[in-house]
Amino acid sequence: MTEIGNKAVDYAVQQGVATLTMQSAPVNALSRAIRIGLIEGIDNALHDDSVSAIVITSSLPIFSGGADISEFSGGDLSPMLPEVLDKIENASKPVIAVLPGPAFGGGLEVALACHHRITFADNKVGLPEVNLGILPGAGGTQRLPRLADVQTSLEMIVTGKPTSVLKLPGVFDKISDKPDHLLEDTKAYLQALTPEKAVKRTCDITLTMSKETEAVFDAVTAQTKKASRGFFAPLKCIEAVRGAYTLGFEDGLKNEGKLFMECMNTPQARAQQHFFFAERAAGHVSDFDKNTPERSIEKVAIIGAGTMGGGIAMNFANAGIPVTMLELKEEALEKGLALIRKNYENSAKKGKLTQEQVESRMALLSGTTSYDDLADVDLVIEAVFEKMEVKKTVFSALDKVCKPGAILASNTSTLDIDEIATATSRPEDVIGLHFFSPANVMRLLEVVKAEKTSAEVIKTCMKMAKRIKKVAVLVGVCFGFVGNRMIEPYGREANRLLLEGASPEQVDRVLTEFGMPMGPFTMGDMAGLDIGYYVRQSRQEHISHDPAYGAVADRLVEMGRNGLKTGRGAYNYEPGSRVPIPDPEVLEIAKQEAERLGVTQRSDITDEEILVRVMYSLINEGAAILEEGIAAKSSDIDVIYVYGYGFPVYRGGPMQYADEVGLGTILDKLTSYRDQLGEYGKMWLEPSDLLVKLAQEGGKFKSYKA
Ligand SMILES: NC(=O)c1ccc[n+]([C@@H]2O[C@H](COP(=O)([O-])OP(=O)(O)OC[C@H]3O[C@@H](n4cnc5c(N)ncnc54)[C@H](O)[C@@H]3O)[C@@H](O)[C@H]2O)c1
Repeated sequence: MTEIGNKAVDYAVQQGVATLTMQSAPVNALSRAIRIGLIEGIDNALHDDSVSAIVITSSLPIFSGGADISEFSGGDLSPMLPEVLDKIENASKPVIAVLPGPAFGGGLEVALACHHRITFADNKVGLPEVNLGILPGAGGTQRLPRLADVQTSLEMIVTGKPTSVLKLPGVFDKISDKPDHLLEDTKAYLQALTPEKAVKRTCDITLTMSKETEAVFDAVTAQTKKASRGFFAPLKCIEAVRGAYTLGFEDGLKNEGKLFMECMNTPQARAQQHFFFAERAAGHVSDFDKNTPERSIEKVAIIGAGTMGGGIAMNFANAGIPVTMLELKEEALEKGLALIRKNYENSAKKGKLTQEQVESRMALLSGTTSYDDLADVDLVIEAVFEKMEVKKTVFSALDKVCKPGAILASNTSTLDIDEIATATSRPEDVIGLHFFSPANVMRLLEVVKAEKTSAEVIKTCMKMAKRIKKVAVLVGVCFGFVGNRMIEPYGREANRLLLEGASPEQVDRVLTEFGMPMGPFTMGDMAGLDIGYYVRQSRQEHISHDPAYGAVADRLVEMGRNGLKTGRGAYNYEPGSRVPIPDPEVLEIAKQEAERLGVTQRSDITDEEILVRVMYSLINEGAAILEEGIAAKSSDIDVIYVYGYGFPVYRGGPMQYADEVGLGTILDKLTSYRDQLGEYGKMWLEPSDLLVKLAQEGGKFKSYKA
């Protein structure tokens, strides 16, 4: 047995087979070391007369996770992946990829360039590049369609979703029933290789565009335009795959390379790559370290079985964690539990859960009206009415019964967690866990650290979030925390524009064209306009200096127009429909309010003005939040906005979008509206200190450190 090779790729020869084993934890990212290791390994094997076949495999439970995207920023990158794949494909001895686990992106492209592929039935592979705003750039768009059917190839490349290997019979020459049989099956496969079949190059397969294939392209293109509205890369992916059918292999590759560069040079690719890192960075916080102990969470209690309490409870039951729900009255408890069951039954009807799963999840949920039943829980999440006195009563009761070390969390949207903590004798155990509605669906969790919250409690909650499949972002205490605090100026500006003469549909159109899933007026109608009304009532000290603040929305609520649930809000709704219908009466109300308040209505409000005033106000608040240290980094704000508010991921989040536009431009435009809007501008459109400072320095939010 000969052993050479670098650290990333082990090289060993046994019984005439050279095995190149990628062993670069955690995922065999195709770093320069792996690329060099593969090239050297192939060269060694080709020069060794005792070698008759070459196997490329992995020592890890994954074949390869794909490109090392930290290399996207540059440096000496030679040899590039296409060069490695060329070497593999053109080897004069058979090269067999053996996949002991998933292969993604460049990892799958390596396998596709090999002459044979072997894996096991449960495995998955994928080409997720589109999620980074690009396309597979090492022949994936050319080789996959040569082995798989056109529909599957397009789906994989355009959606980036992992696909079962069983759906890819043309790609895999042998699929073992179990991973344990892979080695044995590979040996048998090698022995059975006949010289004629030994070297079969994917690039030698010729594809032609038939009428049926063309029809598949048309259908996928139409579907993609709908499903990926606003995204640049998915249509480029289709164009690249088309090249596999209309151009030869060499020209197809060149075309792929050209389209790859077109994608790579877009703000979208920068945004999506930023977001990839932002999501991972959200979990890295400086408030605890490796040595901070973690508490175990095996039993949970939820106080309040209403809209949020029920949704939150489902997250834990889904993760197999028992939950006790507490309400003051038996009937409220029964109502809450019945609603959870209905939710699960609906999922079962849609085929997402089996009846058995429904029952096992329900079995993890129990109810009580007595605090004594919470003596042994590890975590309590309070989700009662949004009133400080009620919250304090609950926390004081919890303080009396809960065991030492139990974490006491509040799901409050706006109240001061520091104040809630004073109702207990253990403020170090008190934290905010701000779920978003519907809590069983929305992935975002704002973990709110109060002044005295311990590192141990923060760490436990951040880790617990992963167990219940949430994306946790650590934030500080302030009104509305990060997400809702920023949405306030966004909504304020939208409402002000309505007062000044814009229509709800114009404002909503501008924001949906920007990429938001719905505009602020549709969103307000869905949430219920009464919610904003009560928030305004409770915040008079902060807003009463502007008598026009939320004026139109207040009138709508006073007329009983509470939004979708009453069939009328900023729009009208047909019974049973969620489609907003513009209502001239709303414009009339806005006109009357403007007259009453002495606001001049204009007919010249442009789309640009709407975007700048609404979106830049949101960004401006984000800058203040960053400066105050409520968010530790701008990318955390981006994660909150993409996961909590549907901000388009192809813009990377509001702060990345601002960095892309340029903070100088953001500042100039914001101050120009501030100046144009006189008294109103002075009240609300003052740029934050951090925005001014970074704009003057030519800086970016991304590189700002508090
Ligand atoms: N609804 C949202 O979109 C949303 C989103 C995030 C956070 N929140 C926050 O979650 C909390 C609950 O909101 P919700 O929308 O679920 O309200 P909800 O009215 O649907 O539910 C509140 C439940 O708490 C129960 N309750 C009230 N006082 C209680 C007490 N002293 N002890 C035990 N149970 C009590 C009520 O009977 C009710 O079932 C609020 O703090 C709210 O700000 C709401």
